[in-house]
Amino acid sequence: MNCLVFSLSPSPSVFVIVLLLFVQVPSSASNSSLFTDCSNQFVCGDISTGFPFWGAGRPSACGIPELELKCENDIARMSINQVAYRVLEIKHEFKILRIAREDYSAGLCPPQLENSTFNPKVFDPVIGYTNLTFIYGCVVTPIVGIPLPGLFTCKINDTDGQNGYIQGGAAGPGDCYGSVFVPVPFTNSPLIWNVTDLEELLKEGFEVRWKFDSAACEECNRSSGVCGINNVTNQTTCYCPDQSSGSKTCALPGMCLNFS
Ligand SMILES: *[C@@H]1O[C@H](CO)[C@@H](O)[C@H](O)[C@H]1NC(C)=O
Ligand SMILES: *[C@@H]1O[C@H](CO)[C@@H](O)[C@H](O)[C@H]1NC(C)=O
Ligand SMILES: *[C@@H]1O[C@H](CO)[C@@H](O)[C@H](O)[C@H]1NC(C)=O
Ligand SMILES: *[C@@H]1O[C@H](CO)[C@@H](O)[C@H](O)[C@H]1NC(C)=O
Ligand SMILES: *[C@@H]1O[C@H](CO)[C@@H](O)[C@H](O)[C@H]1NC(C)=O
Ligand SMILES: *[C@@H]1O[C@H](CO)[C@@H](O)[C@H](O)[C@H]1NC(C)=O
Ligand SMILES: *[C@@H]1O[C@H](CO)[C@@H](O)[C@H](O)[C@H]1NC(C)=O
Ligand SMILES: *[C@@H]1O[C@H](CO)[C@@H](O)[C@H](O)[C@H]1NC(C)=O
Repeated sequence: MNCLVFSLSPSPSVFVIVLLLFVQVPSSASNSSLFTDCSNQFVCGDISTGFPFWGAGRPSACGIPELELKCENDIARMSINQVAYRVLEIKHEFKILRIAREDYSAGLCPPQLENSTFNPKVFDPVIGYTNLTFIYGCVVTPIVGIPLPGLFTCKINDTDGQNGYIQGGAAGPGDCYGSVFVPVPFTNSPLIWNVTDLEELLKEGFEVRWKFDSAACEECNRSSGVCGINNVTNQTTCYCPDQSSGSKTCALPGMCLNFS
């Protein structure tokens, strides 16, 4: 309804519409800046992205709440369920995000123990990845008599040299102090039990798929709008160059009603 109306035979209603346009401008100025703001790409190092992500120059209305990105020293980061990740790659066509845990970037002993969990409403696991569990603070060697590859030591609960070991799957700590599971690329190679190789593998990260369906956004984009999220309804909305928002697409000038 905010499209420009041209008519060869002006009628009083056209003047009313034109008047309404001018009256609406101040009250909807913020929507206009959302069009501008959400047209900004998030650019950080090698990462460049738009919807459904927000952060930096993109206000929260430009993306879904869980997908906030930050840029620090050309490194894109995000936090998912209290765990800080480095964002290594975003594959828009597959809705895939490759991320690596920040706390494991310097070794296998994170300052705090947190599992890599993902809200199933927001993320799906990606085929080709499997969980690996790090078990910390084992007072006794876990399985007596069987030599365990992948043993390491960490300072845990203020005590140096606590034993830790690696186990497949998403496991609990058993008799040990705590455990952390992290997805890693699925591999049947025993190399994964080599702690040095494992540290490298963790730096390469793992993939998760965001579930958000942006089909509505493509329509919005085709109508020269930019997609965003209405923070009251949590639905996608289209911010338009003419300052309107709230519907799925922007009105195209050629599609205006003829009031004559
Ligand atoms: C890791 O384990 C968690 C909890 O059991 C599960 O929800 C998730 O799908 C697993 N991830 C992978 C990549 O298998
Ligand atoms: C952590 O250490 C404190 C004192 O150093 C001890 O009282 C506590 O039991 C330890 N916690 C665990 C779970 O081992
Ligand atoms: C990680 O998940 C396992 C299995 O659900 C749980 O036993 C363990 O306590 C969790 N670790 C942390 C740090 O929450
Ligand atoms: C682990 O792998 C690294 C490099 O791939 C190698 O230098 C090292 O000797 C291996 N360690 C063990 C215990 O196999
Ligand atoms: C939106 O449309 C523009 C051209 O108008 C295009 O450059 C851009 O890649 C599109 N964005 C998405 C997410 O499809
Ligand atoms: C929604 O966004 C507007 C501005 O973008 C903000 O003023 C308002 O507090 C937000 N409301 C909620 C519930 O987040
Ligand atoms: C919208 O999303 C936020 C954050 O995920 C949530 O707290 C809120 O309850 C949601 N609102 C609706 C109406 O679904
Ligand atoms: C501006 O946005 C708000 C909510 O984001 C919406 O209620 C309002 O209708 C929009 N204004 C116009 C002119 O579309």
